[in-house]
Amino acid sequence: MRAFLTLLVFTVSHAYAAPDPHSYANFDAVQVSHAHLDLAVSFERRELSGFIDLDLLRKDPAATRVVLDTRDLSIDEVLAVDAQRRYTPTAFSLSRADPIFGQALRIELPQGVERIRVRYRTSPEASGLQWLPPELTAGKKQPFLFTQSQAIHARSWVPIQDTPAVRFSYSARISTPPGLLARMSANNNPLDAANGDYRFIMQQAIPSYLLALAVGELKFAALGERTGVYAEPNVLEVAAYEFEDTERMIEITESLYGPYRWGRYDLLVLPASFPFGGMENPRLTFLTPTVIAGDRSLVALIAHELAHSWSGNLVTNRSWDDFWLNEGFTTYVENRIVEAAFGSERADMERQLAERDLQEELEELPQADQHLRLDLRGRDPDDGLTEVAYTKGMIFLRFLEQRFGRAVFDPFVRAWFDRHAFGTVGTDDFLAFLKTELLDRHPGKVSGEELATFIEGPGLPAFAPRTHATRFDAIDAARSDWLSGKTALAAIDTSAWSTQEWMRWIEGLPASTTPAQLAEFDQGYQVSVVGNSEIAFAWYLKAIEHDYRPAFAPMQDFLQRIGRRKFVLPLYTALMRNPGQQDYARKVYAEARDSYHPITRASVDEVMR
Ligand code: BES
Ligand code: ZN
Repeated sequence: MRAFLTLLVFTVSHAYAAPDPHSYANFDAVQVSHAHLDLAVSFERRELSGFIDLDLLRKDPAATRVVLDTRDLSIDEVLAVDAQRRYTPTAFSLSRADPIFGQALRIELPQGVERIRVRYRTSPEASGLQWLPPELTAGKKQPFLFTQSQAIHARSWVPIQDTPAVRFSYSARISTPPGLLARMSANNNPLDAANGDYRFIMQQAIPSYLLALAVGELKFAALGERTGVYAEPNVLEVAAYEFEDTERMIEITESLYGPYRWGRYDLLVLPASFPFGGMENPRLTFLTPTVIAGDRSLVALIAHELAHSWSGNLVTNRSWDDFWLNEGFTTYVENRIVEAAFGSERADMERQLAERDLQEELEELPQADQHLRLDLRGRDPDDGLTEVAYTKGMIFLRFLEQRFGRAVFDPFVRAWFDRHAFGTVGTDDFLAFLKTELLDRHPGKVSGEELATFIEGPGLPAFAPRTHATRFDAIDAARSDWLSGKTALAAIDTSAWSTQEWMRWIEGLPASTTPAQLAEFDQGYQVSVVGNSEIAFAWYLKAIEHDYRPAFAPMQDFLQRIGRRKFVLPLYTALMRNPGQQDYARKVYAEARDSYHPITRASVDEVMR
């Protein structure tokens, strides 16, 4: 009977009672308001160990327990801290492990207790941590550790209310082997010595997915008064060159959308296994080294992560169903920054490339996953990580921009950020704000039906604005003239082509391109071994489609060197579609898998089955 009741309580507390479908936390009753971490970093054991102190806010005075999220954590002890600062063990239990959501940690909360201490250790397999041996770093001398908390991996290294609906300030003490530098999404002091003992304070309240830590042989280079870059010593100089425009991009964003409210803005270049392009950890964006092209041509990614300092970090999606509020706004702002910093031709090209990616993804996505507002109950929130949230979200905002004009729309977006600063928002909040601040004041410009088509409808509405980048016309014309034999390849002047134009050229190679033409192009421009990761990626996809074997050895090197999921997952997926390429894919993956991040590994495992 008791077991049955427990089961019932368990089911109810997860599926219905918890206010965020991707978290066990009972934050409607008890909410974390501050966290203090005290952790030791052990590379030998691949373990973080220590404790977290959580300050709690009782929203329901009758609440008798607090529920946290965990995944693969060993909980050694939980202490209740009373008003006299006495530490008393208190009862706790862990629910059965769910493969997606982990385990609820339920802690009994005696009356009057507003702080608890949880002593715990992480697992070497923690999904939010990657422990790299020296060979997998740029310098190959020291080990490296970094976290990736979004969407729901914070719970694998911190027992916390792992939902974007809860914001808390934090402080931390991190001890590492001497010589390694620890950095967090907090008040990093560029002058810190690498003595193995680090303290951090993050006064602004942030959601758990923005908790971040990196430990490695990191050096600092200033880019401006409030901006700089951390990287391994042998990467520092190229990184500082690549990201020189950072301060200018901050100023552009401030002039559009109001002050940058986080103090410093630093960048941290991770080893190549980082599973994403960038992660907007507050005050300290984490970056893939594949953004370093040598010519600053991929820095839209910096613009993107910087834009999150407004959309996402300042105004946060309440649940992962509203992910487009983070990423659609950010992609929109990103493109505005690129336009202001590098001109509208560049912004147009980048947007058109993204629109093409969206179109391709829409052909494969289930209809329900094509809405801006998603319903991801019971599913991994990473399923919402598609071009829909990013590019359809951006197109929706451009649609509004064009209907109302920038003179009206820009102040509206700024007001959205100001009004909800350090708050959490859902799609309904946006629609309500849109109604009172724009639609009611400027009637007749946008219909409710048009809004509903974007928010709740599949695909892209027929009336959605589309981009025509005029620079691509010349690329398309040159490509077809060459393919039809009208012009020789050598007669085409490519000297002024940007990365985006090379991408357009490659992506537009039709199915009818002959092996001889692929070889001629490759030999002419050495595309198979190009250092620019985006160009290489576009080319390898073509090589797979055409079974162009000379690219396969360099592609193997690429796949074994780089763990960015946006590159490796589509390449393995495409290879596995062709029976003749599956052996190659399996062989490459067998050698590469160990070096990939748990997040990349989990995704690629799915397609290699
Ligand atoms: N916040 C995202 C990364 C993310 C989203 C990680 C969801 C885990 C779950 C970040 O801002 C992002 O969008 N990165 C992009 C770069 C961008 C230029 C599109 C990426 O990693 O490719
Ligand atoms: Zn983003």
